[in-house]
Formats: sequence, C-alpha cells, structure tokens
Amino acid sequence: MKEELERLFAEALEKLKGAVEERQVAEIKAEFLGKKGKITALLRGLVNISQEQRPVMGCLANEIKISLEEKIKESLEVIRERKRKEYLLHESLDITLPGRRVPIGRKHPITEVCNEIIGIFLGLGFQISEGPEVELDYYNFEALNIPKDHPARDMHDTFYISDEVLLRTHTSPVQIRVMEKQSPPIQIIAPGKAFRCDSDVSHTPMFHQVEGLMVGDNITFGDLKGILTIFVHQMFGDKTRLRFRPSFFPFTEPSAEVDMQCVICRGKGCRVCSFSGWLEILGSGMVDPEVFKIVGYNPNEITGFAFGLGIERVAMLKYGINDIRMFFENDMRFLGQF
Ligand code: DAH
Repeated sequence: MKEELERLFAEALEKLKGAVEERQVAEIKAEFLGKKGKITALLRGLVNISQEQRPVMGCLANEIKISLEEKIKESLEVIRERKRKEYLLHESLDITLPGRRVPIGRKHPITEVCNEIIGIFLGLGFQISEGPEVELDYYNFEALNIPKDHPARDMHDTFYISDEVLLRTHTSPVQIRVMEKQSPPIQIIAPGKAFRCDSDVSHTPMFHQVEGLMVGDNITFGDLKGILTIFVHQMFGDKTRLRFRPSFFPFTEPSAEVDMQCVICRGKGCRVCSFSGWLEILGSGMVDPEVFKIVGYNPNEITGFAFGLGIERVAMLKYGINDIRMFFENDMRFLGQF
C-alpha cells in the first residue's frame, strides 16, 4: 500500500507539472483526491489491512494527501500569476488619445451679484442675518406696522399657507427678528428669497432681496444717504448719480425710494428708463417709532434706518438684461454668458 500511495503521489505531481490551465489542475484534483479519486479509493482500503499497520498507513496517507493539496494550491498560484503577467503585457493605454470634456459649472448670476452686494456691505461693517422663508403674518406685516386692514397689504400679492402663516413677501421681517433678539447698536444685512404671486417681464413669483438695518445712537438720514451712495458707487461706478425720492412704507418714516442714473443711457433718456434718465433701485427710510415700540426699543433713545433692494433688479441693470424671467429658465446658453 505504501508503494502504491507513493506511486500515485508521484503520478499526480508529474501531471501537475504539465498543467497550464486552472481547469486542468481542477481535473487532476478530482482524479486523485475527489470522491471517486485514486487516493481516496486507496484510503478506503485501509479497513482491510492489519490492526498494527492501519495507524502507520493512515498517518502516511494523510501526509501524502496534505502535501498533494499544497502542491495543487501552489500550481494554481503559479498559473494565476503567469496569466496576470500575460494580461498586463498585452494591455496597453494610448495616452495620446484626446480626453472627454467634462463641462465645468459656474455660479448663477444671481448668486454672483448677491455675493458682490454682500462683499460691499461687509466692507462697511455690516453683519449677515437670516430669517425663515415660511414666515408668520406677524413678522411679515403686523410687526412692520401693517395691520390686517392696512391698505399697504394691497401692494403685496401674498402666498398664504394659512391665516397666520405665509411665504414672506419681502426680507423686512428679518429686521423684526433681529431687533427682538439683539439690543442696539445693530448693523446687519439680510439677503434672501421673497415670494409674491406675480409674473411678468419684471416680476417672478420668487425673487431675491437684500434687507439692511442700522440702529443706534444718532443714526440719521445722512447715514442712510452715505451708506447707499457708497454702495451704488461701488456696484455701478463712482460717477453714478443718485436721487432720493419721497415715498411711503408703513415701517419707515420718512421713507424714500432711491433712483440711480440710468446705466444704459447715462441719464440722457432711453427705453430702459422710460426716457426719464433714472432707474429705481431700492426702498428705504428711517425706522418708524411704532416699529421700535413693537420690538421693545425706546424710540426717544435710538434711531435707525432700513432699506430693501431687489437683487434681480441690480443684476438686470448690471448686465443689461430686460426680462427677469431669464434668470430662472435655466437656459444654459443664457447662464453660460456670465
Ligand atoms: N420691503 C420693501 C418691499 O419689499 C422694501 C423696503 C422699503 C425695505 C423700505 C425697507 C425699507 O427696509 O426701509 O417693497
């Protein structure tokens, strides 16, 4: 039996030497070690040999089985390594082929202009505040001195969610939220989205505003004019002239709308400015004492100014765009120009 085992082992090794494919190795394994394999069959014959011989033979058979299994494993590894090398040798990359172009995204012009506006006001010492887009009627109207029956509510085509909840129609409610939390001095801007049920060449249901608020001792209309003049000069060039026109907002007294010289015709008169030479860019005024009372400030001790400007309006003037809806159609031919 011993000789037979050794002969089978030698035979298996001889066959393994000739194997060049994994499949052949598997066949050899089945031939010798499989259920019906030659070595397996021989081991079954152990029951027929004498008691004393059995353990010796069993031990030897086991050793041969283990070392054959090892040899099989080795030859599999050799085959795999050879295949890998062959594959690497034939695989080649043509690095001179032209690549595929990946289009590069860029910032939306509204984001771009908004960041520019923020940059100017940060430079003037303002800090940035934020408020919710889904707002309470109280902050959007009531606390801004616009009670339920006030005619000024007519100017706002409000999206109501319920009687008391709405989409904010302007960024002015942030003024109230800031003053409720902080005490003067306050010097903030609040950029963000606003919503009104309105759509034509100069209105979209969603648009962007930047609110400004400066409150403290002896803040005057002169400060308002100074800050807004610096802003317009930095945004549109320092030759741009400004005009403060009396107006009305329930939360400021006095109120003013600010016009700047038409950027297209430089004040001579053209279609963009309706031949007036001026373009309206923002609303502003001195914070109404009623608003100070609502947030618990003493109107005899402090004063302040506020303003609100439309970002789309600034972007349209800066880039000479005459239809606000272009910003939100996501036409790549339009957006790619900025
Ligand atoms: N909230 C106003 C609007 O959307 C704009 C405005 C006017 C804001 C005067 C102000 C202000 O802060 O003082 O029409």
